[in-house]
Amino acid sequence: MIGFPRTRIGLDPGTANTLLYVKGRGVAVNEPSLVTIHADSGHIEAVGEQAEANRGRTPLKYETARPIQGGTVSNLDLFDGMLDRFLQKAELRGPLQRLEVVVAAPSGMTEVERLAVVESLRKAGAADVMLVDQVLAAARGAGLAVEESRGRMVVNIGAGVTDVAILSLGNTVYSRATRVAGDDMDAAIVGHIRATHQLIIGERTAERLKMKIGSAIPDTRELSLPVTGRCISKGLPREVAIRSSEIREAIAASLERIRNAIREALEQTPPELSADLVETGIVLTGGVALLRNLDRFISSDCGLPVRVAETPLASVIHGLAYQLDRLRASDWRRFGNGG
Ligand SMILES: Nc1ncnc2c1ncn2[C@@H]1O[C@H](COP(=O)(O)OP(=O)(O)OP(=O)(O)O)[C@@H](O)[C@H]1O
Ligand SMILES: [Mg+2]
Repeated sequence: MIGFPRTRIGLDPGTANTLLYVKGRGVAVNEPSLVTIHADSGHIEAVGEQAEANRGRTPLKYETARPIQGGTVSNLDLFDGMLDRFLQKAELRGPLQRLEVVVAAPSGMTEVERLAVVESLRKAGAADVMLVDQVLAAARGAGLAVEESRGRMVVNIGAGVTDVAILSLGNTVYSRATRVAGDDMDAAIVGHIRATHQLIIGERTAERLKMKIGSAIPDTRELSLPVTGRCISKGLPREVAIRSSEIREAIAASLERIRNAIREALEQTPPELSADLVETGIVLTGGVALLRNLDRFISSDCGLPVRVAETPLASVIHGLAYQLDRLRASDWRRFGNGG
């Protein structure tokens, strides 16, 4: 098997979005982590954007499912199927492909979960696999000089997990994942609208409300957005205008948990690093970093400067790309069929 060219790729398999970077080519896949399956056979009919387009509109015999939940693979078969399709899409599938894959994993992933991801990648044609800390990658992708001896704090808030880390000298000094993130906010919005308006809305509608009019603390731009749902009592479609303040109320408990996770990290930080953080502050990455006023909300609580990364949805994949360009051969941990 010697002599086949190797392709290096970075993979960020997120609860909501999967991104794939190919060295020399750039980001080749950036799609929702979704699959459309045939309800009886379990056969995968579509993945990614196509599955997103199908969602809620498919005949009864089809279902939409997420192979990743809370940051980890929840259904291996679906994950394998989705991965396979994404690799095909990037033209990385075939007997002559020898892939070297760097894959991002949230903090606190168990050894069993890690091995499952490695095994999936091996089945998909990877010769070598390396797991890296998602939050370390996010920090690199956000442009932080993590190799320096100064302490830095990164909070990556995705759809399934919030990863809080303090970094120094290229390593994590502290990292902890909490299973509260964007998905919980969407579920809380569904519950809140149901309780206050007797209206049932879908999670996609809830997510749209969160993105368009949601905010962590009030500001001058209080907005409202009309949404259509199903009235609980009559079962008929009904339109209601929802206000920013209602979304804020709905997501308050999730935000509180995120704030507590940050407080806990700060409490456990060694004093020298704490002093650094007063200057370096906190950088927010992951999609929820785009929630309006989240930076101000966190900053007013802990007193540290808080900044949102430039492209928070892509920080992890950018960090993986950065790392891929600098890896040495000895950095790779080989698994079985490496050739
Ligand atoms: N403008 C916005 N305002 C608020 N939330 C947003 C915005 N844009 C995206 N999000 C949320 O960000 C989340 C997706 O972020 P991201 O792609 O970083 O997650 P992920 O990597 O798939 O998940 P995880 O890392 O938790 O496994 C979703 O919950 C989405 O609703
Ligand atoms: Mg993520």
